Amino acid sequence: MKKFVALLLALMMVLAMGACSSSGTTTEDTATNDTATTDDAATTDDAATTDDAATEDTGDTGAADGELIKVGFAQVGHESDWRTASTKSAQDVFTAENGYELSFVDCDNDSAVQLDAVRNFIQQGMDYIIIDPIVATGWDTVLTECEDEGIPVIVIDRTVDDSDKYASWVGSNFKTEGLACGEWLKAYAAAQGITEINALVIEGSTGASATIGRTEGFKEIADREGWTILDSQNGDFTEAGGQEVMESYCQSYKGQFNVVICQNDNEAYGAMTAMDQAGVTYGVGGDVILVSFDANKAALELVKEGKLNADFECNPMAAPDVDAVIKQLEAGETPEKEIYMNETWFVAEDVAGATITVDGAEQDLVVVTQEVLDARPY
Ligand code: AHR
Repeated sequence: MKKFVALLLALMMVLAMGACSSSGTTTEDTATNDTATTDDAATTDDAATTDDAATEDTGDTGAADGELIKVGFAQVGHESDWRTASTKSAQDVFTAENGYELSFVDCDNDSAVQLDAVRNFIQQGMDYIIIDPIVATGWDTVLTECEDEGIPVIVIDRTVDDSDKYASWVGSNFKTEGLACGEWLKAYAAAQGITEINALVIEGSTGASATIGRTEGFKEIADREGWTILDSQNGDFTEAGGQEVMESYCQSYKGQFNVVICQNDNEAYGAMTAMDQAGVTYGVGGDVILVSFDANKAALELVKEGKLNADFECNPMAAPDVDAVIKQLEAGETPEKEIYMNETWFVAEDVAGATITVDGAEQDLVVVTQEVLDARPY
């Protein structure tokens, strides 16, 4: 009898083991399709392996399998306060909390470094590549390489002018900024009874679309109005560059100029130092009308003080729009090919009228007050 009971128990155990094994098979089968079942599997001894695998690079697009979306950003460099704000905008948006893993490369204004950075991003299997192109040309080959690898590229700020192989561009209309500067100067000079304009321009980096657009826009109005542009030289978008160019202008054009156009705020800071040293007065009530682009908060303080007459905004906060573009691409939608940032024209005095019309569009001139400064994000 004992033997029979033992045999019966052994038989029951074998049957029970068969049932367990069959149940396990079902769990494994459904685990590949069902999140809840996968979570259940995580309670087994294999859980560590499962978790480890989840952090490995599978080469899949991040959002599709719950991983972080890998974004490579080839930034121009760190030449200006504007650039610092642009970098911060990206670092604030492309965080792990927001579902991203950001690889950031400061290309230090070197186009060869920027092309290498993009190619490294391709090799690293980025899900998306963001490029702020140092120069506007020379892009088609590397953008074709991105396209061949199926990696969408989003261009920000400056434009790529020799290729359309990118999903979307988010940035500024630099020619409009230059035109706005010219239209404001026309209105301001008329209101002040200034009949002759002799301008000096401190340009940004050669080949950058920001430089090309601002130069073209201002020159278009200068040519139309019969103004003289005495000189236009490269200040590289830096404070040191602006100071160096202005020092040489102060020597070469002493007493001949009444307008200085700096193509960004840092150049304007340098130009102020040079004019201070040369005994040239500028701004409201000065000998020289001083104008800038970017409208960083520190520069707007100078507009409020009357040291800068006007500042035409270039908006560096592109990253939230890029985030929206990526979300659209993740959802299989087609984003807008061109997305323009909102930008404001800031002035020190309310003397040129409340608005200017640029390319047929009327836009407010905003006099910088403490309230305006308090509302500035960067
Ligand atoms: O491309 C935008 C320009 O580049 C900004 O005006 C300048 O400050 C920056 O360095």
